[in-house]
Amino acid sequence: MTKVNKTSNWVRRHSEDAFVKKSKQDKYRSRAAYKLKAIDEKYNLLKKVSSVADLGCAPGSWLQVLKEYKNINFIVGIDLLNIIPIDGVHFAKQDISSFKSYSKLFEKKKSNLDLVLSDIAPNITGISDIDQSNFSDIASNILGFCRFKLKPEGSLIMKYFLGSSFESTLKILGNNFNKTNVFKPASSKKKSNEVYLICIGFKD
Ligand SMILES: C[S@@+](CC[C@H](N)C(=O)[O-])C[C@H]1O[C@@H](n2cnc3c(N)ncnc32)[C@H](O)[C@@H]1O
Repeated sequence: MTKVNKTSNWVRRHSEDAFVKKSKQDKYRSRAAYKLKAIDEKYNLLKKVSSVADLGCAPGSWLQVLKEYKNINFIVGIDLLNIIPIDGVHFAKQDISSFKSYSKLFEKKKSNLDLVLSDIAPNITGISDIDQSNFSDIASNILGFCRFKLKPEGSLIMKYFLGSSFESTLKILGNNFNKTNVFKPASSKKKSNEVYLICIGFKD
């Protein structure tokens, strides 16, 4: 199959996807909104927090979901890509690993955060060893961010991809949080290795 055919097949499948259709109706910037909603239906975290960082937030549908919670009064979003601004969201176009480049976002926030979200997906090369090593590097950057800004007893929701580095990443997270769960929302495509790690009770 030529590259053009592959791309047009992807465009057709994407536009027919029920969650893509629903996100258009509900005015969410992407179908990812329903992944966060499904995670929250099961783990019920968003009602209990007031400050959240969303790492890899573009185009911003998780930020839109966070804005629906009146109890959440401090939201930070960080991404390599720009987003269309959202009222009340503090945003930095930065790599999440360069903490210093966006530490200004937290100047007015004295206490650390209740919740860290990461929906980051590094570029997939298709070479399993390289991809798994990239996923594990991202996970250590996210854990670094938690050490930088997450409250003791705070929570982390992080996307990860099943594969050779999965067990070791889960173990590291298990050493840093009281409880870790693995969850796959219905809106996460069945053939994708993507899962979400729900980590509760940061040990700091
Ligand atoms: C699947 S998208 C996130 C979708 C988002 N949750 C939403 O609801 O709109 C993943 C994002 O991670 C970002 N990303 C990947 N690596 C990153 C890094 N090192 N630092 C910051 N953002 C990164 C990408 O630019 C991309 O926008």
